[in-house]
Amino acid sequence: MSSSPLPYSVKDVSYDNAKFRHRSLTKVVNRMLLSHKVKRNCFTWSTGKFLAMMMIFGLVYLFMSRASQDSSGAVRSTIDGRIDRDDDKAVADGGGRFKKFWSKTPRLPPNLSPDEKVKLSVNDPNNYQLRWVSRQQKVKDAFVHAWSGYKKYAMGYDELMPLSKHGVDGLGGLGATVVDSLDTAIIMGLDDIVSEAGSWVETQLSDRINQKGQVNLFETTIRVLGGLLSAYHLTGGDGGMRLSKKGPQPVIYLNTAKNLADRLLSAFAASPTVIPYSDVTLRDSSGHPAPDGLSSTSEVSTLQLEFNYLSMVSGDPKYSVEAMKVLEHMKGLSKVEGLVPIYISPQTGEFHGENIRLGSRGDSYYEYLLKVWLQQGTSENVTYLHEMYIEAMKGVRNLLVRKSVPNGLVFVGELPYGAKGSFSPKMDHLVCFLPGTLALGATKGLTKERALKGNLLTFEDFENLKLAEDLAHTCFEMYSVTSTGLAPEIAYFHTEDYSEEGLGGGNKSSEYQNDIIIKHADRHNLLRPETVESLFVLYRITENEKYRDWGWQIFEAFERYTKVDSGGYTSLDDVTSLPPRTRDKMETFFLGETLKYLYLLFSDSDFIPLDKFVFNTEAHPIPIKGAAGATKSG
Ligand SMILES: *[C@@H]1O[C@H](CO)[C@@H](O)[C@H](O)[C@H]1NC(C)=O
Ligand SMILES: *[C@@H]1O[C@H](CO)[C@@H](O)[C@H](O)[C@H]1NC(C)=O
Repeated sequence: MSSSPLPYSVKDVSYDNAKFRHRSLTKVVNRMLLSHKVKRNCFTWSTGKFLAMMMIFGLVYLFMSRASQDSSGAVRSTIDGRIDRDDDKAVADGGGRFKKFWSKTPRLPPNLSPDEKVKLSVNDPNNYQLRWVSRQQKVKDAFVHAWSGYKKYAMGYDELMPLSKHGVDGLGGLGATVVDSLDTAIIMGLDDIVSEAGSWVETQLSDRINQKGQVNLFETTIRVLGGLLSAYHLTGGDGGMRLSKKGPQPVIYLNTAKNLADRLLSAFAASPTVIPYSDVTLRDSSGHPAPDGLSSTSEVSTLQLEFNYLSMVSGDPKYSVEAMKVLEHMKGLSKVEGLVPIYISPQTGEFHGENIRLGSRGDSYYEYLLKVWLQQGTSENVTYLHEMYIEAMKGVRNLLVRKSVPNGLVFVGELPYGAKGSFSPKMDHLVCFLPGTLALGATKGLTKERALKGNLLTFEDFENLKLAEDLAHTCFEMYSVTSTGLAPEIAYFHTEDYSEEGLGGGNKSSEYQNDIIIKHADRHNLLRPETVESLFVLYRITENEKYRDWGWQIFEAFERYTKVDSGGYTSLDDVTSLPPRTRDKMETFFLGETLKYLYLLFSDSDFIPLDKFVFNTEAHPIPIKGAAGATKSG
């Protein structure tokens, strides 16, 4: 565990090669000229020619070093102080003048990933864009560091324990980190990692699926099935983009996905109602209820993007049919202003209990109402989903949204005893998915500017977009209020009815010290993605730069406090103390979601555009039906 970030671990160096580096055109041409000249002159070697040769060499060298100075200068003066410091730190850590000379030229100019249409030369005065290209590269470096730790100590396990340096199967043993990471590597253009993860999937995953025991239907669907389907599309399946040519043929991903989904369907088949059981035993394809017999509302309603897409590309409707029955059934159940309890019984098909929240077990029900409607190209036969979504968001605004005291942070609380019970000012970090979903629902993935020009926003859309921006601010302050700059798992908000002393986040400079209350049991951070996910969506939609700045601030805090020198990143036990106590775990969603959303936050907005893709709840992009151009390269 390092308190100050090292730029690379030893392991990273193997990835840190020229393949991923952008070469300026001038340099490439110069090099070509140089080697060409040397070659030609070699044939007729004489003293005169040797001198002439030396002169040419000298001139070319002068020209080259000028060009390289120019480029370094351009970047140095445009990237903010922190990046410069990072570079100096790299030099200091590496030690020696040679290291300095060495580290300087290849590190700058920043890499441009080949998959993005960033038309920049190093002399381009477009400082703003250069800064974000460089920051995007830092995110890519972080992903390489995370993967290298996993590969070294935990390859094939679900998750890495980065401090004790071994793997652990917390999700049933399907190598969840491999599959969750795969499309992130594809998106980042990291061909070596695509090869490693892809060939693991090709050679190992089918056996695992055939032999493993109990897995959770929802977790396995969103991470493994979702990851396979995205990888299928992004490597060219279904007329997709073919962002990477490495790894197996796309059809391997599809066949593996089908094998997995065939087994997952047993959770539906075993249940007496359309509501599936929570668990599946893979090796004998049997479905099983959770110990208390209940399924989570969000879990049974967060399978449809994946199952629908699998039906579309496999030509077999059974996956979509089973999954959509859940939502069709839920349409008919009674709700509280569109809000639903967090448990549902597969025995009766009815909701269970009265606990209403948008945090764990509730969250992605609301997300998928919107996203399945978008995925189906807002087709008329799924209009009911959009209606359920709009009604639910109205319910959120009426029943769950409050402002904190004294500074008026807008937050979403809970109704643990239903609409007639008391309000709890508790907000899970998980709820921070909501700003992104609200913004996406308002403009359907278009920019706010375009939606305004086209007169496309209803009253509800405006309300939801406003709430999205307010909540994103709150989610950001949940980070900024702590000593580490990282959010706790759960925050409470000071209201007229509720306050507690002495439970601040520890950042004395934050003006929200009295608004946000962090209980001792809730002070951990699991490297969760929801806030940066929302910042990504809000940046794309509003085009307001502050969302990028906030994302960068959060990324820097992850770098500073969660990076493990030997490889990987670790969860924290307490974000309010310095140095923070650590937990020994790197969750798969750090690679699948957190780093992917940060990378996309800093990328061009036409890369994986929001009006052509929906991201499943594990950040695996799935193309929108009929969206023209979804298959073209971003
Ligand atoms: C919507 O209806 C069309 C035409 O009847 C059908 O092809 C499609 O599968 C339906 N979509 C869903 C999600 O049911
Ligand atoms: C503490 O709060 C101040 C004021 O909002 C902010 O500028 C700073 O970045 C915060 N510190 C951390 C570690 O986030």
